[in-house]
Amino acid sequence: MPSAIIVGSGIAGLFAAISCADAGWNVQIVTKSDPSDSSTNFAQGGIAGILDKTDGAGIESHIADTLKSGDGHCDEAVVRGIVEEAGDRIRDLLNIGVKFDEEEGGGFDLAKEGGHSSHRILHSKDATGAEIERALMQAIENNSNISLLPNHLVVDLILEDNETEIHDIVGIWCLDLDAEEMHTMAADAIILATGGAGQLYSHTTNPLVATADGAAMAIRAGAAVKDMAFIQFHPTALAAPSLTKAFLITEALRGHGAVLLDIETHQKWKAGSSTIAGGDIEDPSSLSFTLKHSPLGSLATRDIVARAIDSELKMSGRDFVYLATEHLAHDDLHKSFPMIAEYLKTIGLELGVDPLPVSPAAHYFVGGLEVDHVGRVRQKGIHHYMRRLFAIGEVACTGMHGANRLASNSLLEAVVYAHRAAKYVIENPPTEGEEVNAIDLPRWRADKLSTLREHGHLRHDREAIQATMTHDVGIVKRDYRLQRASRRLALLADEVDRIWQRCKPTRDLVELRNLILIAKEVCYASIAMKVNIGLHWNDDLI
Ligand code: SIN
Repeated sequence: MPSAIIVGSGIAGLFAAISCADAGWNVQIVTKSDPSDSSTNFAQGGIAGILDKTDGAGIESHIADTLKSGDGHCDEAVVRGIVEEAGDRIRDLLNIGVKFDEEEGGGFDLAKEGGHSSHRILHSKDATGAEIERALMQAIENNSNISLLPNHLVVDLILEDNETEIHDIVGIWCLDLDAEEMHTMAADAIILATGGAGQLYSHTTNPLVATADGAAMAIRAGAAVKDMAFIQFHPTALAAPSLTKAFLITEALRGHGAVLLDIETHQKWKAGSSTIAGGDIEDPSSLSFTLKHSPLGSLATRDIVARAIDSELKMSGRDFVYLATEHLAHDDLHKSFPMIAEYLKTIGLELGVDPLPVSPAAHYFVGGLEVDHVGRVRQKGIHHYMRRLFAIGEVACTGMHGANRLASNSLLEAVVYAHRAAKYVIENPPTEGEEVNAIDLPRWRADKLSTLREHGHLRHDREAIQATMTHDVGIVKRDYRLQRASRRLALLADEVDRIWQRCKPTRDLVELRNLILIAKEVCYASIAMKVNIGLHWNDDLI
């Protein structure tokens, strides 16, 4: 039986696993934590897509919105291909058992988010990702061709030791975090679905596992990357002073009518002050500072809204702006956003009653491993794809998102590429004598490595990376700050490398090694960008 290793357990990894297993492949899903720790599980908004393939106008408008949000940097053919495939893949999800909200009279209840010109987002209340994970995990549990290895952290990819120019990935070294043992695993196809890199920043909507592991291990194995300067900050992460971790307030809430206001304007609006336009007005949309940046106001694309908030915060010296929901129908709000309402209660806020303090947080890694239309990873320096290696979901850069991802397009891209990569793998099984075997692979060499005695400095180095990225390689960049960041990151990389050479790997150390590599890539890519486009904004380029 041919075998596939899938690294990561979000929508892309699980969907690809089911597809390969259904075709008779032996699949191992390797995930470094609990499967539910994926970014998918935290996705609130939903999956954008036109279900009816005959709805030409709907498809064209989804394509147009995606291209506009991508600020002229999308690969139009890729966008078209994905948007046209949306109906089929969403139906696959429905067949697997995903439940999207429906309207009372029939048909799906479609939401709208920033940059979308119409309602086209399928969702499950405000916890769509969790619903998708639930259904996919259930299908995995019922599939005897799939085994799931939680608490297993892939450290590096194994390259076939041959003289050929094209790198052949034949296995992984994987740290069993419970047994503290390194395993050598072989497979005929290795699919990276490891998600993003939100942990590069101090404030992120991503889970703790988002440490760019897949991108880093593939780069070390010779993979090419693309568009690394484009880090998407979600405009509205809850920023209550008591919170230690960012909590996402879905953009669908703004699609439902919530409005971003600076604190002074909010106070005046609540007081019914006549010093604000119109005085005593119900809906505060016309009062939003975001209108200075786009006529779409609070519902402009994320790059614009995040920068608008950033500028507001720099001018006011405050830590947050307000997201106002007080003008919206209370019961309807609570029915549509029950998870958010519940969470807000735990910190003493009531949806529809209290203004919500929000600020931008790192959310999505638009760049990543450069892949073709089936997720094959390009090798750096040559126009060939590495053998047996695939990347899907956030770790990959397909060209769909351009310089700024349109909201709710990521789950769609993930499921389309999971399907395509699995199909390619299934249709290209190893020929006789080509199968890989763990017995033939080199073992991880731990000789002479000592056990890390102190972990404190690993945490400090991680915090130093996050501080540097947040302050110097964040929403708005400057030349001198990028240069400063590149010097600091180079020093940190040296330190981390010293520890790596001496010590046995632990989760903290492996993640730190991955984070510093990707931080440098983002910083260098930002220095190299000489135009302001989408999510890359350098004040010195104006
Ligand atoms: C959101 O719900 O606002 C996030 C969805 C996304 O990032 O596409």
